[in-house]
Amino acid sequence: MWSNRTRLTQPDMMSAQASFQKCGSVLVTGANRGLGLQLVKSLAAGGFSPGKIIATTRDPSSALKLKELAEKHSNIYIVVLDVVNQESIQKCVEEVHELVQEEGLNCLINNAAINLVADFHTVTAEKMIENFRTNAVAPLMITKAFLPLLKQAASRGACGAESMGIQRAAVINMSSLVGSVQLTWGERAHYFKWYPHRASKSALNMVSRCMAVDLESDGILCMAIHPGWVRTDMGGPQAPLSPEESISSLLSVIGGLSEKDHGSFQNYKGETLPW
Ligand SMILES: NC(=O)c1ccc[n+]([C@@H]2O[C@H](COP(=O)([O-])OP(=O)(O)OC[C@H]3O[C@@H](n4cnc5c(N)ncnc54)[C@H](OP(=O)(O)O)[C@@H]3O)[C@@H](O)[C@H]2O)c1
Repeated sequence: MWSNRTRLTQPDMMSAQASFQKCGSVLVTGANRGLGLQLVKSLAAGGFSPGKIIATTRDPSSALKLKELAEKHSNIYIVVLDVVNQESIQKCVEEVHELVQEEGLNCLINNAAINLVADFHTVTAEKMIENFRTNAVAPLMITKAFLPLLKQAASRGACGAESMGIQRAAVINMSSLVGSVQLTWGERAHYFKWYPHRASKSALNMVSRCMAVDLESDGILCMAIHPGWVRTDMGGPQAPLSPEESISSLLSVIGGLSEKDHGSFQNYKGETLPW
């Protein structure tokens, strides 16, 4: 119904892996569990490995699985980041600057999010604002703070307008199908009556699109991606996809992004989704 691309092929996967190998640094927010942790695991494991994997978490002392991974892979760097705290964002930028130096940051993955479940009857202004702050405002503030490092990476990789992609500079916002306004109708409208989460992801989609307009002249690719319904704390045990399945496909899509994907909303299979 919304696809404009066929399933990812083996050559797609290989060319995506080559892009990651040319990519100096990838930063993942909310990397201590769920899809963020899986992103770091899959990036470190093999084909998709970039130069530096910067894994952020708000509490490294309790991020045991992430620390275990970092002990095994010397290219994983753990940095503290509470995505809703401006001071924490600023400190994180400074630490990342130390790590990447004049190479800048190639790929920022705004993954951290919350899901405050509330329907029409239980929703409150506070729940709406809290969910909006973490899922839509934070990715925007983080991208603003990292802009100098993203621009630095983009200018180093510049070789013509057609060279957009993670090997140059990209902002990937982890969005969700439930943020699609168009799909919230008919049969589908009766699932997931989550006002705070759904509205926050719609807002994130708009943020992604606006950033795509504003950062295009700097050569920074911006897009929103839906990872599928996945078995994490947020997705729940009944979800059909494992984190490994979602992320291996998602990384193939991210690695293959180019200027034609700038400003898009896609799923983990590379299919275009309706806004
Ligand atoms: N799972 C799915 O089925 C699904 C479907 C569609 C979209 N997504 C999207 O995929 C992304 C990852 O989801 P997930 O399933 O991995 O969720 P998850 O298991 O609930 O993990 C959420 C992550 O976000 C972090 N986080 C939340 N608030 C934070 C803050 N203020 N500062 C720093 N980190 C914060 C959490 O850290 P703490 O441990 O410190 O809380 C945790 O690492 C999200 O953007 C989500 O909306 C997931």
